[in-house]
Amino acid sequence: MTHTTKDRVLIFDTTLRDGEQSPGATMTHEEKLEIAQLLDEMGVDIIEAGFPIASEGDFRAVSEIARQARNATICGLARANFKDIDRCWEAIRQAKSPRIHTFIGTSPLHRAIPGLTQDEMAERIHDTVTHARNLCDNVQWSPMDATRTEWEYLKRVVEIAIKAGATTINIPDTVGYTAPVESADLIRRLIAEVPGAEEVVFATHCHNDLGMATANALAAVAGGARQIECTINGLGERAGNTALEEVVMALKVRGDIMPFETGVDSRKIMHVSRRVASVSGFPVQFNKAIVGKNAFAHESGIHQDGMLKNAETFEIMRPEDVGLAATNIVMGKHSGRAALRAKLKDLGYELADNQLNDIFVRFKDLADRKKEVYDEDLIALVNAGLDAESDRLQIRHLRVVCGTEGPQTASLTMEIDGQEVSTEATGDGPVDATFNAVKKLFPHEARLQLYQVAAVTEGTDAQATVSVRMEEDGRIVTGQSADTDTVVASARAYVHALNRLLVRRDKTGGDAREISYKDVS
Ligand code: KIV
Ligand code: ZN
Repeated sequence: MTHTTKDRVLIFDTTLRDGEQSPGATMTHEEKLEIAQLLDEMGVDIIEAGFPIASEGDFRAVSEIARQARNATICGLARANFKDIDRCWEAIRQAKSPRIHTFIGTSPLHRAIPGLTQDEMAERIHDTVTHARNLCDNVQWSPMDATRTEWEYLKRVVEIAIKAGATTINIPDTVGYTAPVESADLIRRLIAEVPGAEEVVFATHCHNDLGMATANALAAVAGGARQIECTINGLGERAGNTALEEVVMALKVRGDIMPFETGVDSRKIMHVSRRVASVSGFPVQFNKAIVGKNAFAHESGIHQDGMLKNAETFEIMRPEDVGLAATNIVMGKHSGRAALRAKLKDLGYELADNQLNDIFVRFKDLADRKKEVYDEDLIALVNAGLDAESDRLQIRHLRVVCGTEGPQTASLTMEIDGQEVSTEATGDGPVDATFNAVKKLFPHEARLQLYQVAAVTEGTDAQATVSVRMEEDGRIVTGQSADTDTVVASARAYVHALNRLLVRRDKTGGDAREISYKDVS
C-alpha cells in the first residue's frame, strides 16, 4: 500500500546527554555548543543538551545551548527529586522552548535500588512530575527500564505521570532488551489502555544491545509513538542508542510503507556525523549504515558496472541525500584561500575568518608534503584543528631522532596553559619517546589503553589518523589527530586525550565518582 499523507515524527536527539555518557566520549564545552548548533540547524525538534545537576560543566553547557538555540526545543534531564528538577529548570528556562525530562527506574530491579515500594514510587512520580509541570509547560517523563517493568505497574505509573501533567511519555528500552513486535505492541497497548493517553505524545528510546534499536524505534512508531529518541552515529553507552541517521533515512526511503516525515535536513547528516565522530573520539565503523566510509562504495565489478549504467541498480538513496558531495575535486598546493573556503563549505564547514586562516596555513603545509589533497584529508585536517582550538595543552614543536641505532629521542616543546615548556626524552621507538616527553612536561598517572593508527587515504604520503584511549581512576578518554607524519599525529592524539582528561576531571571535581542515574534521592 502506498500512503499519500504523512504524519510528523519528532526527532529528539540525545547525543549530548545519553551519547556523551558513553565512557570515553567526553566533549569540551565549545564542542557541545558546536554540536548543538549543528543539530539545531539540521532540523532536530528536541535537543537533550545534558544533565544539569551532574556537574557545573553540564549546567553551563545546557544553559548556553538553551540561550543559543534558534529552532529546537532544549531539554535537560533530571532524576525524580525536586533538587534535580529545579537545577534543570534553572539551566533551560532561557530557551525559546524549554523542556524538563524527568525519569525514574520502574522495573523491579530498578525499584530495588532506592528501596521504594510500588506505592512509594507512584507517589514520588506524582510529586516530581507535578513539581516539574509547575515550573515548565513542557514536561517529559520516562519510566526507565520500561520494557522490563510489570505491565500493570507500567500502565499505572504512565497514567499517574499523565495526570500530573507530563506532555510526553517516553518508553525507554534501557538495556536493549525488546524486539520489534513487542516494541510496537507495547506502545499500541499503552495508547489504547491508559486513560488520557491521547492527550500526550508517546516517545521511544531504544538501546542497541541486540542490534535492534533502529528496528525497535520504527516499530514503536508503527505502534503509535510520534517521537524517536536517538543519537548521531548511534553514539551511547555499551552498543549505543538508535542512530538518528538510520531512522531519518529509513523513513525517507521507505515512506511508501512508513508514512511519516521528520523535520531533519538529511543533506546535513554526513557533516554532523563526522564532527560527532571527531569530537567524541568514537570513529564510525567503515560499514556503518548511512554514514560509514563504505556505505556508498561499490567495489565489485558487477556492482560498478550496474552503477555506471543506472545508479538505482545498487543504490536505494543517493549519496547527495546524506550530504556526500557527488564529486571529489582534488585540491593541491596551487589552490587558493577562496577555493579552500568553497570546498570546506561544500563539506559542511562554515568557518570564521581566523579559523579559515589557520586551516589555510595547515592546508598549504599539507599540500607541500602531499601531492593531492582529497576531501578526507581536508576533513581530517579541519577536524583536528577545530578539536584542538580550546585545548589547554598544545604541541608546539617536535623533533624525533629514530633509526636502527637507539635509543630514539624526542625533543618536544609544548604550551601548557599559555606557557611554553621544552624537554627531551628517550624511549623504545619514536612514539614511546614522544609520549615519554609529553609525560615529563605534563606528569600524569593516566594509563594508555589503546593506540591505533589508520591511513586516511591511500599511498605512502597519506595522512595517518591516530586514536589514543587513556584511563585514569575509572575515567576513560579518547583523543584523535591526523598528519602525514605518524609520530606528529600520535603526539597530538595523546595530548588531545590528556586535554579531555582535564575536562573530565573538572566535570567530576577531581573525583572519579560521577553522579549516578540510579541514585534518585
Ligand atoms: O536509557 C534510558 O533509560 C535513559 C533514560 C534516562 C531515559 O537514557
Ligand atoms: Zn538511554
